[in-house]
Amino acid sequence: MSSLPRIVIFASGRGSNFEALAHAIDDRSLCASIEALICDHKDAPVMNKAKSRGLPAHCIPGGDEAKILEVLKSYAPDFAVMAGYMRVLKKPLLNRFRSSEGYYKIVNIHPSLLPAFAGLDGYRKAFEHGCKLAGVTVHLVDEGLDQGPICAQVAFSIADCDSAAEVERRGLIVEHALYPKTLQWILKNQFKFRNVAERTHVRPS
Ligand code: GRF
Repeated sequence: MSSLPRIVIFASGRGSNFEALAHAIDDRSLCASIEALICDHKDAPVMNKAKSRGLPAHCIPGGDEAKILEVLKSYAPDFAVMAGYMRVLKKPLLNRFRSSEGYYKIVNIHPSLLPAFAGLDGYRKAFEHGCKLAGVTVHLVDEGLDQGPICAQVAFSIADCDSAAEVERRGLIVEHALYPKTLQWILKNQFKFRNVAERTHVRPS
């Protein structure tokens, strides 16, 4: 068994972040081993992306957590990595990844500068709101919707964007660079927590 941190990626659709993470592993900028993909749509493009890399790809419709937990048993993952998985996780799955420090070893990437524009369509909301900056957030997952402790954020200018599609195009470039980099320091435990005004903050250690 490899001594690299074992990750399972959860995704629902296109899979560009899945690819970015897999590339970063290929070029060794991310030291981790993708054990499997969990997806909730059998026709999602990400399923073929995983299969074409020879990785186990499990379709679990409806995000059935009992089934997911069963599947996870054979992979013994250290961390769960959400890459466009369009579901809020419930307690059984969260607890599978609970660390001794109390946080969940689950990370997500979100297409906005949280806490602005949680939920769906972060880039479109930023464009329709007339924002001059949009952004990307990588955060640990907790019980809330896009509310867990923020690990990293990058903002980018959208002042000259004429469409939500252009905002998304720029955002995905940022995502694909930020996610592997941030995941690397999370997996290496290079962060510490600090509680400020009843929130948990994550900072590089
Ligand atoms: C990304 O914009 C990500 O931030 C959000 O869902 C989208 C997934 O895109 N959580 P992809 O499937 O990785 O291409």
